[in-house]
Amino acid sequence: MTTLHFPPGFQWGTATASYQIEGAISEGGRGVSIWDTFTHQPGRVMGGTNGDTACDHYHRYPEDVALMADLGMQTYRFSVAWSRIFPFGRGAVSLEGLAFYERLIDELLAKGIQPALTLYHWDLPQALQDIGGWANRETVDAFAEYAAFLYEKLGDRVSRWITLNEPLIFTMYGHRLGVMAPGQKDLRITARAVHHAMLAHGRAVRAFRESGVAGEIGITNANSSFEPDDDSAETAAAVELARDFETRLFHGPVFGRGYPASVLKFYAERGAPFPIETGDMDIIAEPTDFLGVNLYSRQLIRPGGPTGFTSAPPRLPLLPMGYEAAPHSLGDFVRWVSKEYGNPVIYITENGVCDNAEPGPDGTIDDATRMELTRGFLAGLHGAIQDGADVRAYYMWSLMDNFEWAFGFTKRFGIVFTDFESGRRIPKASAGMYAATARANALEV
Ligand code: BGC
Repeated sequence: MTTLHFPPGFQWGTATASYQIEGAISEGGRGVSIWDTFTHQPGRVMGGTNGDTACDHYHRYPEDVALMADLGMQTYRFSVAWSRIFPFGRGAVSLEGLAFYERLIDELLAKGIQPALTLYHWDLPQALQDIGGWANRETVDAFAEYAAFLYEKLGDRVSRWITLNEPLIFTMYGHRLGVMAPGQKDLRITARAVHHAMLAHGRAVRAFRESGVAGEIGITNANSSFEPDDDSAETAAAVELARDFETRLFHGPVFGRGYPASVLKFYAERGAPFPIETGDMDIIAEPTDFLGVNLYSRQLIRPGGPTGFTSAPPRLPLLPMGYEAAPHSLGDFVRWVSKEYGNPVIYITENGVCDNAEPGPDGTIDDATRMELTRGFLAGLHGAIQDGADVRAYYMWSLMDNFEWAFGFTKRFGIVFTDFESGRRIPKASAGMYAATARANALEV
């Protein structure tokens, strides 16, 4: 047995997102979001389910915060449903919606848990989608107004802010592949959505500085650790293209390097230019305080396809999500991103394991795969920190099983089991392991 100590002050927490856990979609003056619309369209979600009730966290939040406290969590990342605050995206405000988050935040603070608030985790108000959503530049203004409102109302109690969760996923899966809300498949719309999302990020950072709120702000991107399928120079070039299209596209502009030329060319050649106006890139490059890293796996890459890169067949065992069980990928990616962007402060804003273990005859849940892979992810992360990466917090995805987007309730990511019938929460074996790690600020491997 070896003990891997994390740096003093390293923070441990869990992460969730509004639509995946809250339910209560018609309460507190909440407006309709694109995920309400999408999930109620036939054929969109596995099993035909939706987030109407989800974990019923809207009502059960005191119990959920108490659970976190029992597990010794020091911080909690959650997102605000934009349409609870501005039911129509902009204009009229629902103070009842705001009050829900005030109660949640107060409960967290009372238990000594630091809130980390994500402004946008994919649930765009439907009223904004009705005018074009992220393809319309007006959505950028609406987002900046929404962000400024929350800084003003919650800035006295929340000091860690995340602008967007995974623009890669909501732009590509939602607008190009059509498998997530709003379910579009259009390259022109995708290019516009990418640029407007990044501009919205920059505007929200500017508004944060202007608000005078004491605290820190950054973006959370989706990542894979890209690995070459063989040793050839062609494959190495394909890996760089994968990084351009999926990593540098969203990190580059934030760090003042603009969008990769390869990506701009690809879109422009297909009649889908990025709608960049004078001054936009400076706004997107407004300095941030940290980089939020989400990572679940690696991707083996080989040359091919219209973009010049494609996925090679997996070699490692697959998880229920269809991707490889690759615990080394977290440390590898953190090393790469730290080097690429000058060693930024990093929070692992999501990492976790899909393990569908159910309660056994004695009622306990032995999620052995989650525990084994979590140890691997954390050991890799520890190695990257030893090598100089400035990682200061880790948020496990997720606190509890929840609505896994287009997969509905078929994929369980929680360290706490959710019985979706009764709403009951049961900590899994991994919750005990994770709590022990957090308490000791050290991992036993
Ligand atoms: C998202 C989460 C999601 C998780 C697991 C991330 O891409 O931010 O909302 O549940 O991955 O698939």
